[in-house]
Amino acid sequence: MTRSTHNKTREEAALDLMSQVLREGRPLAAEYPLVFGEDTQGHVELIETEGEPASTCAWLERTLITPACEVPVALVGSVATRADRQGQGLGTAILDRATTKAASEGAALSLLWADDPSWYQERGWVPFGTETIYVIDGTMAFLLPEPDGVRAARAEDAAAIHQLYANRPVRVDRSEDETRAMLGVPAMQVVVKEQGGQIVGYACMGRGEDLQQVIHEWAGTPQDALPCVSELWRANSDQAERLFMMIPPTEADFIAYFEFVKARGASGILCMARLGSTEAMARVFDQATPDNVSATASGPDTIDVTGPGGTIRLTDHQILLALCPPRGDRRVTNVVETDVGTELTQLPIQPFIWGLDSI
Ligand SMILES: CC(C)(COP(=O)(O)OP(=O)(O)OC[C@H]1O[C@@H](n2cnc3c(N)ncnc32)[C@H](O)[C@@H]1OP(=O)(O)O)[C@@H](O)C(=O)NCCC(=O)NCCS
Repeated sequence: MTRSTHNKTREEAALDLMSQVLREGRPLAAEYPLVFGEDTQGHVELIETEGEPASTCAWLERTLITPACEVPVALVGSVATRADRQGQGLGTAILDRATTKAASEGAALSLLWADDPSWYQERGWVPFGTETIYVIDGTMAFLLPEPDGVRAARAEDAAAIHQLYANRPVRVDRSEDETRAMLGVPAMQVVVKEQGGQIVGYACMGRGEDLQQVIHEWAGTPQDALPCVSELWRANSDQAERLFMMIPPTEADFIAYFEFVKARGASGILCMARLGSTEAMARVFDQATPDNVSATASGPDTIDVTGPGGTIRLTDHQILLALCPPRGDRRVTNVVETDVGTELTQLPIQPFIWGLDSI
C-alpha cells in the first residue's frame, strides 16, 4: 500500500471500518493483498467526522489488456460508510474523491462491482462490458470430461499458473509476484491439470467471502480447463447443488461447449464504470481505431473522434457505450462509424477482469 499520502493509522482505521461495515468485524485485508499488502500500489480513502472514521473505499490502478488496446483503469472496492453516518452524502463524496484522484493519475475509467448497482447508477456509474455465467449442476456435470491429471495447486505451481494467465489475450496486466500473492487469498480452491510434468490448465473457485461457488478464474484449452471444472464439481457437489463459471465473451469455444451440453447460462454485465481522464480515454480510442481516425480530449467529459467523414463529439456515457457497452450492444459505435465515415472493426472492445483481480 502506498504510504506517501496516508499514514499507517489512517489506513488501519479505514480497514477497521471496512471490516465492521462489510464483514461484521471479520478481517478482510488478507482477501485483497494487492490493496492491503506491504509494498503494493493500493490506495485507501477515508473521511472522518468529528475525528472518527466515517466513510472509506479502496482503489487500485490497473491496465486492461485487449487485442485492440490497453486501458488504464482504477478498480474501486470496499466502499463503506459507518451505519450511523449513512445517508449523509459521505459515500457519494468518498467515491468522488477516489475517482477524481484516479483520473488525475491517468485512469481513463474507474470500475467497480456492485451487489446492488442502483446506488451507483444514481451517481453516474453505468453498466460496462459483458460477462457470461454458466451453471454447473447435476443435469450436465456428468458430461464434463473426467478430471484426469487434475490435483490441488501447490505453492510451487504459481509461476506456471501465471504463465497460463499471462498468455491470455484479454486480461488485467499483472506480474508473477502479484499472481503468487493472490493465489494465497483465504477460502479459495485452486486446481491444476498436469500433463507430462507441465501445468496445462487451472481453475480457481471462491475468494475469501466473495465468489463462493463461483469458478472465477481459469485458463487452458477446453480439453485442459474443463477437467479442472469437473474436479471442482466432484469435490464440492455434496455441499453445493450448483457451481457457477464466469466466462469472457471472447471465449467462443467455452461458450459453444456450455451451449452444447445445454448448461443454463446468462449474459450479464462485467462491472459498473465511470469516465475518468478524457486525455487517457482519447489515447484508448486512438489505439482502437484505424490510422485515419484520431481522438482528442475536448473537455473534462468529452472527446472528439475525427475520421475521413467528419467529427463526432462524444460525452460521458456515450464514450463508455461506444467503447464497451453492456452485452456488446453496438448501437452507439454504429453512430460513431457513420459520423466519422469509416468502419471501426475493433470497437466495441471486449475486456475481461478475471476473479483474482477483483477488489
Ligand atoms: C452504500 C453505502 C456505501 C452508501 O454510503 P452513504 O454514505 O450512505 O451514501 P450517501 O449518503 O452518499 O447516499 C445515500 C443515499 O443512497 C440511498 N441508498 C443507500 N443504499 C442504497 C441502495 N442500495 N440503492 C439505492 N439507494 C441507496 C440512501 O437512501 C440515501 O438516499 P438519500 O440521500 O436520498 O437519503 C453505505 O450504505 C454502506 O456502507 N452500505 C453497506 C456496505 C455496502 O453495501 N457497500 C457497497 C459495497 S460495493
